[in-house]
Amino acid sequence: MHRKINIAIDGYSSCGKGTLAKALAKALGYVFIDSGAMYRAVTLYMQREGVNVDDEDAVSLALEHVVVGFQNNAEQQSEVTLNGVCVESEIRNIEVASKVSEVAKIGAVRTKMVALQQAIGSNKGVVMDGRDIGTVVFPDAELKIFMTASQEVRAQRRFAELLAKGDDVTLEEIAKNLQHRDAIDASRENSPLTMTADYRVLDNSDLDRDAQFALAMGWVEAAIQGV
Ligand code: DC
Repeated sequence: MHRKINIAIDGYSSCGKGTLAKALAKALGYVFIDSGAMYRAVTLYMQREGVNVDDEDAVSLALEHVVVGFQNNAEQQSEVTLNGVCVESEIRNIEVASKVSEVAKIGAVRTKMVALQQAIGSNKGVVMDGRDIGTVVFPDAELKIFMTASQEVRAQRRFAELLAKGDDVTLEEIAKNLQHRDAIDASRENSPLTMTADYRVLDNSDLDRDAQFALAMGWVEAAIQGV
């Protein structure tokens, strides 16, 4: 029996972190956790309750009424819940995307989400994707991957995803939103997106899913063996 490890996958928005994380979790029989979905669920709550997300105190106060969790759907894929109700689809819209970086930079929000993430990973066997997973949530993760891709490729991917969902958005809107989020995610005071020397860098601008998976699985095997 192989020892279980934690795998941290960090990087900018729409780099395909979730796709890789899900594929690795499935192949390894690990739990997949989309940490961005947790920040999105908090944002959705604030928007539904009419809380001004630029008011940190108001957000911190309202946060007391927020319970974020995960449940498995019929296909055994984990879905995020907000106060016990699945919100997987609602959190992917452009309204949530346009405000989530503001919410995710608030200290109280991060403290609450990180504590939950660490509890989920305490028994190992977790693949978690986000921005600060290898730096803050699991600094001891046995494998840390930093994913990146060109801005054009990322905007095109997210555009195709939202179009397929039937959302009425333009490529320009998406590109602007990505740039805006990149800037906030990388420059915020609390746990900014950054990389340390122990990360493996995966640029998938020119890699298809299979090639990306094969590369990452090689790293996983090495990490499990402790090399
Ligand atoms: O990965 P995503 O696009 O669903 O993430 C949504 C937002 O949440 C993103 O703008 C940054 C933030 N986020 C974060 O601050 N820390 C994480 N670990 C994951 C996401």
